[in-house]
Amino acid sequence: MHKTVLLAESAFQLNLKKGDVVVDATLGMGGHTIELAKIVGEKGRVIAIDMDAVAIREAKNRIKKEHKEFLDRIIFVKDNFKNIDKIVAGQGTSAIKVKGVLADLGWRIEQINDPAYGLSFNVDARLNMRLDEAGDSPEDSEDAFDIINSWSADDLERLFRELGEERFSKRIVIAIKEARKEKEIKTTMELANIIEESVGHRGRKGGRKIHPATKVFQALRIQVNSELNNLNVFLENALKVLEKDGRLAIISFHSIEDRIVKNFCKSGTKGCVCPKEFPICKCGKEPKLKLITKKPIIPSDLELKENRRARSAKLRVIQKK
Ligand SMILES: C[S@@+](CC[C@H](N)C(=O)[O-])C[C@H]1O[C@@H](n2cnc3c(N)ncnc32)[C@H](O)[C@@H]1O
Ligand SMILES: [Zn+2]
Repeated sequence: MHKTVLLAESAFQLNLKKGDVVVDATLGMGGHTIELAKIVGEKGRVIAIDMDAVAIREAKNRIKKEHKEFLDRIIFVKDNFKNIDKIVAGQGTSAIKVKGVLADLGWRIEQINDPAYGLSFNVDARLNMRLDEAGDSPEDSEDAFDIINSWSADDLERLFRELGEERFSKRIVIAIKEARKEKEIKTTMELANIIEESVGHRGRKGGRKIHPATKVFQALRIQVNSELNNLNVFLENALKVLEKDGRLAIISFHSIEDRIVKNFCKSGTKGCVCPKEFPICKCGKEPKLKLITKKPIIPSDLELKENRRARSAKLRVIQKK
């Protein structure tokens, strides 16, 4: 089962009190939500968002079984977290603000292994990768099948390089183009095999222990679900709903996401933007944020031993000024 990452660390960093309202933007199996519900107590509220209906259903069932007493303080919302401003506004009569926002980015292992989403090269499935509930997406939105079978070689190469940080993208795209001439590439296994054959032994050498298709699959998943755009919009909108001194805590799992979070934190903590030659500040710009974690918090050795997924986790925290 999915193990919650950096649970104690992220809850502690949000610095909540009894009676606070907090948003868990990525409910998942509810690991963080349960902890936050405990901290804010009977009078507090946790607005728990997930765009996957399966996650909402299963987390609700779990909480009903294990922590029935928390049900009244959790508000479940099936939506994309990029809409956090509208979601929070929709909860009260006036535009309410919250004391904390948490996001534990990415996907649960149950989603990765569910053939309905076509995310894994270990389970053969139609190349889909749309995570807003399997089969629930508008028919015309582009899925992994469309990308693999219709994008130009240049676009595919750039996608694998930029969103997958794949070193062998050129070689892989040549193989995809060859395979496409024969027939459409329909399933996750078909694609994984084409990649594995094209990279051959190179894919396993040089300390590369992951499956050679991992990075291409990551790039496709990010593209199909507009993950980077969702994250950028979410960060901006999360600031809007935070009270003064409220905190935003983000856990990311790969360098592309972490870079976005890091840059967001950095740019918000900058004040004056006057040219260096100015003897005194004329712009009057004040920093919007205070950096709480100068360096990201990473899991303890104990957590790393118990959970492989925690290996690449990074927690960054900021406070609204
Ligand atoms: C890593 S899991 C969260 C696990 C959770 N913290 C726990 O302890 O069980 C991430 C969850 O975020 C959801 N998710 C990913 N992107 C989302 C988005 N843009 N909007 C809403 N939910 C999203 C996924 O469906 C998944 O259930
Ligand atoms: Zn200035």
